[in-house]
Amino acid sequence: LVISQCVELVLEYPVVFTRDVFDDRNATLVEAIARREPARRHRFAAIVDAGVAASWPRLATMIERYARMYGTQLELAAPPWQVPGGEPAKQHAVVEGVWQRFAELRLDRQACVVAIGGGAMLDAVGFAAATFHRGVRLVRVPTTVLAQNDAGVGVKNGINAFGTKNMIGTFAAPFAVIDDSSFLATLEARDRVAGMAEAVKVALIRDAAFFGWLEEHATQLAAFELVVVEQSIRQCAALHLAHIATAGDPFEQGSARPLDFGHWAAHKLELLTRHELRHGEAVAIGIALDTSYATLAGLLDARDRARVLALLHALGLPTWHDALRAPELLEGLAEFREHLGGELAITLLAGIGRGIDAHDIREPLVRNAIDELSR
Ligand SMILES: NC(=O)c1ccc[n+]([C@@H]2O[C@H](COP(=O)([O-])OP(=O)(O)OC[C@H]3O[C@@H](n4cnc5c(N)ncnc54)[C@H](O)[C@@H]3O)[C@@H](O)[C@H]2O)c1
Ligand SMILES: [Zn+2]
Repeated sequence: LVISQCVELVLEYPVVFTRDVFDDRNATLVEAIARREPARRHRFAAIVDAGVAASWPRLATMIERYARMYGTQLELAAPPWQVPGGEPAKQHAVVEGVWQRFAELRLDRQACVVAIGGGAMLDAVGFAAATFHRGVRLVRVPTTVLAQNDAGVGVKNGINAFGTKNMIGTFAAPFAVIDDSSFLATLEARDRVAGMAEAVKVALIRDAAFFGWLEEHATQLAAFELVVVEQSIRQCAALHLAHIATAGDPFEQGSARPLDFGHWAAHKLELLTRHELRHGEAVAIGIALDTSYATLAGLLDARDRARVLALLHALGLPTWHDALRAPELLEGLAEFREHLGGELAITLLAGIGRGIDAHDIREPLVRNAIDELSR
């Protein structure tokens, strides 16, 4: 006997773009938390990235005030607490601490965790939330450009382990995402720019018109004009969301990972530099490398390569780091393949807006591409 089991699942969550999410007059958060059961009161916990807390010393008070203001619908389980920000968040000890706090607060599956922070902290807290009671509701409030346009809007979480990035994690859709651009005001200059690498990435593989738009607005983006930055974040997030919803592989069971264009080298560079490079900076270098490779391999016109490098430079993104010379760099290809299994599939460019899968990467050509970038 074979019972052919088949369950179709629908993942739906709103991604809301707003400003001043904890302002009394902004109902975005209460609506997100209460969206399925507007009539009852919702217990929630708030966790803040320590880097965000340092820049927003009144944030915890604002959250408490907000919860009181909407007291008929919200009940804050405990004062907001902090976890480390940046890559140090993505370790087992941090997740363990979050689980422990959830247990002390007796959070149940109908409770909501509101995580406010950068992509790294959201990955770690998202993993803790997805595994506590096999999954409590998670509202992400991403606070960096990269988290708002990419890391915070999708269905992945995870921590680093055994010397590998994102080795442990799950696929889990958030309950809601709230992109509040006000938080971007306190970002360090390099984090402002770093996140734009993901916009360049997704434009290059999916949307030539968006690439043109980025070129036209590069000066305003480099000057961090908020309205233009908001537009770029919305378009980039929309492209990521559309990919997850329509490309037919939301949980990445296949070998191809087009959204990870430029990432095989990026992940290795992050580890080789002990995270001295930000994820977005490493992605910019990875894009420059794979773009140069595509031209050397005869896939991409040299003028298109020049456009890509010119845009990265105009935005203030790096296209070089000495770690590109490390002999271990090329191990990144094998590690990238191992993450998914199956045959190697690296996204390369066949034109602006046209990503294609390559199954064979020629190492001598990668070295030539590195030599070219060094000049
Ligand atoms: N899950 C996914 O789908 C996905 C996708 C892409 C990237 N990522 C992950 O995201 C991480 C990178 O995230 P990131 O670029 O957001 O950086 P980050 O989370 O490493 O944060 C960078 C620094 O900025 C601080 N910070 C955050 N928001 C701030 C604010 N508003 N004001 C002042 N300081 C602030 C943080 O404390 C940290 O020190 C990487 O670990 C990467 O692997 C995950
Ligand atoms: Zn990325």
